[in-house]
Amino acid sequence: MRRVFLWAARNRWLRERLPRFRFMRRAVRRFMPGETLEDALAAALPLQAAGIETMYTRLGENLQRVEEAEEVAAHYLAAIDKIVAAGITGEISVKPTQLGLDLDPEICLDHLVRIAAHAAAAGTYLWIDMEGSAYTEATIVLYERLRATQPRTGICLQAYLRRTAVDFERLRPLDPAIRLVKGAYDEKESVAFRDRRNVDSNFVGLSVAFLLGGHGRPILLSLGTHDVTLIEQIAEQVRPGGIGRDGFEVAMLYGIRTDEQFRLKKAGYRVQTLIAYGEYWYPWYMRRLAERPANVWFALRQMLP
Ligand code: FDA
Repeated sequence: MRRVFLWAARNRWLRERLPRFRFMRRAVRRFMPGETLEDALAAALPLQAAGIETMYTRLGENLQRVEEAEEVAAHYLAAIDKIVAAGITGEISVKPTQLGLDLDPEICLDHLVRIAAHAAAAGTYLWIDMEGSAYTEATIVLYERLRATQPRTGICLQAYLRRTAVDFERLRPLDPAIRLVKGAYDEKESVAFRDRRNVDSNFVGLSVAFLLGGHGRPILLSLGTHDVTLIEQIAEQVRPGGIGRDGFEVAMLYGIRTDEQFRLKKAGYRVQTLIAYGEYWYPWYMRRLAERPANVWFALRQMLP
């Protein structure tokens, strides 16, 4: 079922038709408070009141024209101002292909530098999402170049990729900010672990090694997962090294395991919620359905009157 949804995420015919159905729009609301940044900011208020910080991403990927990347960059620059004006402690997270990586990596880097500089001036942070494995190397190179001038930036790495242990060590000299996730794309056995247990153990191993191998250097690791068992295992394993529950961050998606987000915050973890918004939610929503078949039944129930 996972592969069917990941295929559907890439299928242009479905992408053009499915989002028009009202039941689909109703179903996606579970993970996305609305299509505008204002919807996302309103959803952040109860989280912020509980001490949970937020991160924002406008959905969209793989553009056709450089002008579209320009529009996306302008949107994020304005979004940073709106987040600050709303009195919200929020960061932003962008997909490189949304800023033109496919079209021209130099243009993409220019946009990232501008957004990162604006984020830093506003006292916030810019994160780079990780897309399918065809983009991994180009995204890491972008981050290396970005980080050279913009320290308030982080990158997402995926525990299902076989190369990620090497990427962690490659980035370590930059004192990077890393968000580790399991990985949301359909990858081949040659590049990615396909067995869930291998992905989970790589997730724990990478996190523990990264946190304990810091030797006093600044480290920012965000665990982007809803897998609370893994989060607690990692906390347990780094505790003897003097790293407490606030020594790393836990990031989850809006609408997923909300009760756990509040519980972890109360238990002393630093928790952040990623809130997505925007019109181009279809492939992103398909990847959420791929992660958990129960969500498919929820979507189908929205078809009922
Ligand atoms: P897993 O799928 O094993 O789920 C653990 C438990 O969490 C499940 O048993 C279930 O209870 C709950 N759960 C998980 N997904 C759910 C869902 N959709 N609905 C309801 N419950 C669910 N990926 C990527 O490739 N590039 C990226 O840049 C990012 N960025 C990112 C940021 C943040 C903040 C998060 C939380 C995730 C991402 N991801 C991502 C997605 C990530 O790769 C992964 O696909 C999802 O987080 C699902 O995997 P889990 O780690 O949650 O574990």
